[in-house]
Amino acid sequence: MTTTPAAPGSDPLPATALPASAARLQLGGWEQLGPQATALRMAVFVHEQGIDPALELDEQDALALHALACDPQGQPVATGRLLPADQGVARIGRMAVARSQRGQGWGRVLLDALVQAARQRGDHAVLLHAQRSAEGFYLRAGFASEGAAYEEAGIAHINMRRALA
Ligand SMILES: CC(C)(COP(=O)(O)OP(=O)(O)OC[C@H]1O[C@@H](n2cnc3c(N)ncnc32)[C@H](O)[C@@H]1OP(=O)(O)O)[C@@H](O)C(=O)NCCC(=O)NCCS
Repeated sequence: MTTTPAAPGSDPLPATALPASAARLQLGGWEQLGPQATALRMAVFVHEQGIDPALELDEQDALALHALACDPQGQPVATGRLLPADQGVARIGRMAVARSQRGQGWGRVLLDALVQAARQRGDHAVLLHAQRSAEGFYLRAGFASEGAAYEEAGIAHINMRRALA
């Protein structure tokens, strides 16, 4: 992967390809994808990053559209969610790729699928609270940082936004 970050506000670069053998990407509700999404989120956010497990699942999960990617063996490797829009502005969150699978394009494929879902339902922008350590990942997908950094769940974050054409 040799591309450079998209300039803020410009069209993002095309998504990276899925790993060669391709995978299954599902979009659905919490009843359908919740158990597998929870397992991934607990592994990444609670066990790896030390976030309080009480903060990990919330009432928004029942309202969100969830994405789940599985490897060709059916193992869940990536998850994220798209919340209902507020005045046309959607919010993406809980993006988590299994540690051993990072850097292979899973995160970008998942993010693009959630952005596309927001666009298709007519949202005009997507907002997210990015961990500072992941800011470059979102910049590459056409998001722009806005405002000052702040702390959330004990981790440095920054707001990022992408307009949807
Ligand atoms: C952040 C995260 C979702 C990225 O997923 P990923 O599958 O590793 O990312 P991809 O392989 O799809 O990367 C896509 C592009 O972003 C770049 N990238 C990935 N992670 C990055 C990071 N942390 N900082 C800067 N660039 C990054 C990749 O190099 C790649 O660039 P390229 O297309 O030019 O080669 C994943 O690392 C993760 O789950 N981290 C732990 C949890 C977390 O921080 N979640 C985000 C909460 S806001």
